[in-house]
Amino acid sequence: MNVKELISQMTLEEKAGLCSGSDFWHLKGVERLGIPEIMVSDGPHGLRKQDLEADHLGINNSIKAVCFPTGAALACSFDTALIQEMGAALGEECQAEGVAVILGPGNNIKRSPLCGRNFEYFSEDPYLAGMMAGHHILGVQSQGIGTSLKHFAANSQEDRRMTADSQIDERTLREIYLTNFELAVKIGKPWTVMCSYNKVNGTYAADNHRLLTEILRDEWGFDGIVVSDWGAVNERVPGLKAGMDLEMPASGGVNDALIVQAVQDGTLDEKVLDTTVERILTLIDRYLSHKKPGASYSKEAHHQLARKIAGQCMVLLKNDGILPLDKKAKVAFIGKFAQAPRYQGGGSSHINSFRVESAMDAKGDLDVIYAPGYDTAADVVDEALIAEAVEAARTAQVAVLFVGLPDAFESEGFDRKHMDMPACQNALIDAVTAVQPNTVVVLHHGSPVTMPWADKVRGILDVYLGGQAVGAATLDVLYGDVNPSGKLAESVPYQVEDNPSYLFYPGEVDDVPYREGVFVGYRYYDAKKMPVRYPFGYGLSYTTFEYSGLTLDKKEMEDTDTLTVRVKVKNTGSRAGKETVQLYVRDCQSTMRRPDKELKGFAKVELAPGEEKEAVFTLDKRAFAYYSTRIQDWHVETGDFAILIGRSSRDIVLEDTVRVRSTRRLPVTFTMTSTVGDMLQYPEAVEMMQDILSAYKLGSNDDNADSENGTLGEGTAEMMEAMFRNMPVRSLLSFSGGTVDRAMLQEMLDKINAVLG
Ligand code: BGC
Repeated sequence: MNVKELISQMTLEEKAGLCSGSDFWHLKGVERLGIPEIMVSDGPHGLRKQDLEADHLGINNSIKAVCFPTGAALACSFDTALIQEMGAALGEECQAEGVAVILGPGNNIKRSPLCGRNFEYFSEDPYLAGMMAGHHILGVQSQGIGTSLKHFAANSQEDRRMTADSQIDERTLREIYLTNFELAVKIGKPWTVMCSYNKVNGTYAADNHRLLTEILRDEWGFDGIVVSDWGAVNERVPGLKAGMDLEMPASGGVNDALIVQAVQDGTLDEKVLDTTVERILTLIDRYLSHKKPGASYSKEAHHQLARKIAGQCMVLLKNDGILPLDKKAKVAFIGKFAQAPRYQGGGSSHINSFRVESAMDAKGDLDVIYAPGYDTAADVVDEALIAEAVEAARTAQVAVLFVGLPDAFESEGFDRKHMDMPACQNALIDAVTAVQPNTVVVLHHGSPVTMPWADKVRGILDVYLGGQAVGAATLDVLYGDVNPSGKLAESVPYQVEDNPSYLFYPGEVDDVPYREGVFVGYRYYDAKKMPVRYPFGYGLSYTTFEYSGLTLDKKEMEDTDTLTVRVKVKNTGSRAGKETVQLYVRDCQSTMRRPDKELKGFAKVELAPGEEKEAVFTLDKRAFAYYSTRIQDWHVETGDFAILIGRSSRDIVLEDTVRVRSTRRLPVTFTMTSTVGDMLQYPEAVEMMQDILSAYKLGSNDDNADSENGTLGEGTAEMMEAMFRNMPVRSLLSFSGGTVDRAMLQEMLDKINAVLG
């Protein structure tokens, strides 16, 4: 397709028309120029292609497809190759179904456990989220199919999602709510990015030039199209100027007409429109040139892939030795989810699964009895169901409780009001554990729940929303055919009140201040040393791993260098298994408030019994930097940084330190009200302050600095120094006994500013 040539042949109306969909799921074509309509469909973890009755809320049916584990589960795999493999499978399905772009991955940060859509998102940690999203994109696009990285940006709640204003300070925005997208854009190079419904700092994402053009394109190098979330367009023409290319689904021509009018009356430069049209035609061309006519895929093979992936995502939260189960044991599967698992969430990502394999479907010859225990239609304690379950538990050697959140408790479109499981399920767990000490819980949910029963059960397997093969994958893990290797991609607090956003979430009407700042998830809990039910990065295995040999290739470096970190991990048990080695970085001393530690690398390592492997990480400036609003750039403060290797954010097993020297000094201008201490931080300034400070016996090596000073009583030199450090320069006049005057101070300031400014 000769894009430029085509544009030159298009009428103004045709160009404006191309900037919105023809219907719910199609872009417009231009028949007379041979430009076809292409189709987009929802993801992210399966193909939701709607043929007839279109909607974006998951109400009407779509074609039969394969539901893979949801984002919340996938992230627990900490396995970028695995999610890439899933992405490639989705790409194949799109090729077979004639879908050009699959709308995902969902990559918003889990700010609160209450967000109704957390099940679709990866993590509270932007590095992990960005890595997973980036590799999801690589997988899909390897098949010549586009992705739509969404929802850009700061769309971390469902309540009032179409009008809420996410009010986020610049440093927090950069370090937390944009880093996840930045990584995904740079790694995956998505064909499209979907802008979110909400406002960010007062401006709708769809009108946000700073986000859509300055940051996304100019800084990160994004070269695809920005598509609106369905109905997210606010003001069409300003939006177009801001970089919002494609309006979906459509405005019935109303907004297209506004674009035409704006070009005609000169308020919109036609070149802006041409640029957007060029991007949209390039997308169409990308798809057409990669289209594989006659492509097909095996649903059954993808079901098996969904099973394999689910097994790699499950997190073993507790095991006192009861797991894996003996295949000969008589086991009671209790809970409706054993027969009808909750394996995906509600809303636009809802897949019409061609097959669902529950634990009961997958049990084969295992000695299993079943009791439903609760109903999911309403949260009512049903004594008869509980009595039946208790009886089943009593007659078995082990009870496995399949519990968690029903659809009504969490979904796209609304947030949860609390973090609890249905009361009827908690009552069931109490009743069963009262008669059967050998009880294991299998937890199905999209976001953390309170677990008042955690101490009463012997094992907890967290399967999140594990896709349509979840039942089979659960048995793979419960009975030891698969060794669990998932690690939590989010912290599990004891109660929702512990969450750092609790007091500000979901905001006041449309004002949503992100007042906890960068202290999201473990960044907060770890800084506070607050007990959590399960920490970020936590997960058990049926084998054991030992870490050793942490080495850094340098002990000192400049922030333009890279650091290579190596660490050995050995399987010291008798089963093959996988371990996720986690690397965190801590800034040991900083003038900024920084988290206790931040994840900057991870590696999933597969090990046979007795086998040892080395994980290697390369850290660059970003691993040490914070976002400085003073220079509007990433900045490293000179100092020591701890390199922490952990099994989780709370279980650091090895540690070393590197000294990083900044190659960039933040520009400063000192005035009469700057403090002496702030100036003394700079060796250059110390030198230039010598003459004046000697009048106060400060800043020199003069032994007299230690002598007693009458006005400070028993004062020591440290007290003196502390007082002076917090003193503004002008106050030096008051204590020099007339030896220093204002002109001398100004001269000193001028000299220092000339060097440091
Ligand atoms: C959702 C998007 C989805 C779109 C199309 C919106 O309501 O927020 O994630 O891709 O609908 O269904």
